[in-house]
Amino acid sequence: MFQLQFLVSTVTLSFITQSYSSMVQLSILQSHYHPKPYFLSISVIGFGAAGGGVEYDTVPIRKAINACSAAVSKYRRQCHVIFPPGKYLTATILLKSGVVLDIHRNATILGGPKLEDYPKEQSRWYVILAEDAVDVGIIGGGEINGQGLKFVQRLDEKKNVMVSWNRTGACLGDECRPRLVGFIRCRNIKVSDVRLIEPAYWCLHLVRSDKTSIRDVTIYGNFNSPNNDGIDIEDSNNTVITRCNINTGDDAICPKSSTGPVYNLSATDCWIRTKSSAIKLGSASFYAFKNFLFDNITIVESHRGLALQIRDGGYVSDMTFSNINISTRYYHPSWWGRAEPIYVTTCPRDASSKAGSISNLRFVNITATSENGIFLSGSGGGVLSNLKFINMNLTYKRWTKFTDGLVDYRPGCQELVKHQTAGFMMEHIDGLVVENVVMKWSNDESMRWNNPLDFRPSTVNNISLLNFYSRSYQQ
Ligand SMILES: *[C@@H]1O[C@H](CO)[C@@H](O)[C@H](O)[C@H]1NC(C)=O
Ligand SMILES: *[C@@H]1O[C@H](CO)[C@@H](O)[C@H](O)[C@H]1NC(C)=O
Ligand SMILES: *[C@@H]1O[C@H](CO)[C@@H](O)[C@H](O)[C@H]1NC(C)=O
Ligand SMILES: *[C@@H]1O[C@H](CO)[C@@H](O)[C@H](O)[C@H]1NC(C)=O
Ligand SMILES: *[C@@H]1O[C@H](CO)[C@@H](O)[C@H](O)[C@H]1NC(C)=O
Ligand SMILES: *[C@@H]1O[C@H](CO)[C@@H](O)[C@H](O)[C@H]1NC(C)=O
Ligand SMILES: *[C@@H]1O[C@H](CO)[C@@H](O)[C@H](O)[C@H]1NC(C)=O
Ligand SMILES: *[C@@H]1O[C@H](CO)[C@@H](O)[C@H](O)[C@H]1NC(C)=O
Ligand SMILES: *[C@@H]1O[C@H](CO)[C@@H](O)[C@H](O)[C@H]1NC(C)=O
Repeated sequence: MFQLQFLVSTVTLSFITQSYSSMVQLSILQSHYHPKPYFLSISVIGFGAAGGGVEYDTVPIRKAINACSAAVSKYRRQCHVIFPPGKYLTATILLKSGVVLDIHRNATILGGPKLEDYPKEQSRWYVILAEDAVDVGIIGGGEINGQGLKFVQRLDEKKNVMVSWNRTGACLGDECRPRLVGFIRCRNIKVSDVRLIEPAYWCLHLVRSDKTSIRDVTIYGNFNSPNNDGIDIEDSNNTVITRCNINTGDDAICPKSSTGPVYNLSATDCWIRTKSSAIKLGSASFYAFKNFLFDNITIVESHRGLALQIRDGGYVSDMTFSNINISTRYYHPSWWGRAEPIYVTTCPRDASSKAGSISNLRFVNITATSENGIFLSGSGGGVLSNLKFINMNLTYKRWTKFTDGLVDYRPGCQELVKHQTAGFMMEHIDGLVVENVVMKWSNDESMRWNNPLDFRPSTVNNISLLNFYSRSYQQ
């Protein structure tokens, strides 16, 4: 028999016990560490979970979730599935409406490393998955670990070679691995105070969801593993991300529009390191991206800082990037990125793609130290319009040995193209303001900077420079 624990303050006890006593054996607790009253809770231990990390605890976890879900329907309040200290190896866990995974600070949920641990459909390969659910969450200070290193076929400092499950025919190449946590068509999602560690593929994925809060989440993925994205916000609205710490191989915060638009996203007070883009819009970009705010973000030693990579005809508007410190450097060119602190492009993916468009971007209070310049490149059918760069300190210097002199249009488009290195490289723009911007150029031997501003009047129109300084300095 499982125990349904009710965590409430003594004041409300009598009212609550009445409604519960007929149903299950209750143990009513005074809560020690849950400040909020009025939710049910059930421990996976009560259903036989061992928490040893060797045997699978899938069945007890699923039973606990089902019991919680039944209690949610019956009593109309949230129910927490508690994971006490321990390691819980599991196949895919399906979250239900009203159910919150409450993972103790010293508890880890370990994703199974085998194909049989995941559902048949590749689109549902997640360690934890919620589909068509409301009021769901993951909290508690604990860890969810995808055992990503078990998916590395060969470690390689340039880029790890990953296991592929394409033998199912579900997917091809090396992008055929399970994601860590997914919310598909969900509403009112709360992910807070958890560590998401070593995903085998993408880490935290929102799909066609609405009203998501992601707070105090730490994401760690192997720096050399491809596709270890941090947070992918796909076709979802009203997402608030704050106080995140992301250190991973692939794109850290990555909105995508594949089957619908992305409206209202904010990411604030974050720290990011990645071998790819720290913030990346796209490259899946068929629909709108609108009304985003990125504020108070530190980006260190990344391959690209703020990137808008619109390839599929979608349009972007009303974005603010403020109070951001960026350091970008070159890494192995098999990774997209060429050390650009800011990268904005609408070049169509291929001949059959429509050109996207980008307008109303504001970059304010940006400090960057980078091995390459800012790249702003619209396309014939998709100009960049009304871009503002205000209060920026840009320091250009080289500190790695990787080759420069390449412009990176990947994926698709013109791929990699030889080109001089510029402070601002601009193509196909209408309306650009640069105000209070200082560029400092390192004066050392390795310096191969060409032009502070690189553009042709035939494709760049209506630019204004106000308080723009360019000067060299001795390292
Ligand atoms: C978690 O484990 C650590 C080390 O074993 C211990 O010091 C700490 O008290 C535990 N924390 C809690 C909240 O139980
Ligand atoms: C994936 O499948 C294709 C075709 O079925 C095969 O050629 C390829 O080697 C497989 N890749 C991996 C990494 O297993
Ligand atoms: C997001 O908002 C847009 C605009 O209102 C809407 O078309 C779209 O369906 C919404 N997406 C979701 C997942 O709610
Ligand atoms: C976006 O946010 C605005 C302002 O809060 C709100 O009015 C609008 O409905 C939101 N859009 C969507 C698609 O939810
Ligand atoms: C900026 O974010 C950091 C956390 O990364 C936080 O400590 C700091 O208080 C934030 N600053 C402001 C002005 O909000
Ligand atoms: C950026 O760097 C400046 C100067 O070092 C510092 O005052 C500011 O707090 C930093 N901001 C962020 C978001 O890291
Ligand atoms: C740029 O540097 C100047 C002089 O050091 C400083 O006053 C200003 O606050 C800096 N601006 C930003 C956005 O970091
Ligand atoms: C930019 O920095 C200045 C000076 O620190 C501050 O007054 C202003 O509010 C900041 N702008 C934004 C959009 O955060
Ligand atoms: C030039 O660009 C600025 C800023 O993007 C815009 O406000 C202005 O209307 C444009 N002027 C013309 C003549 O297009």
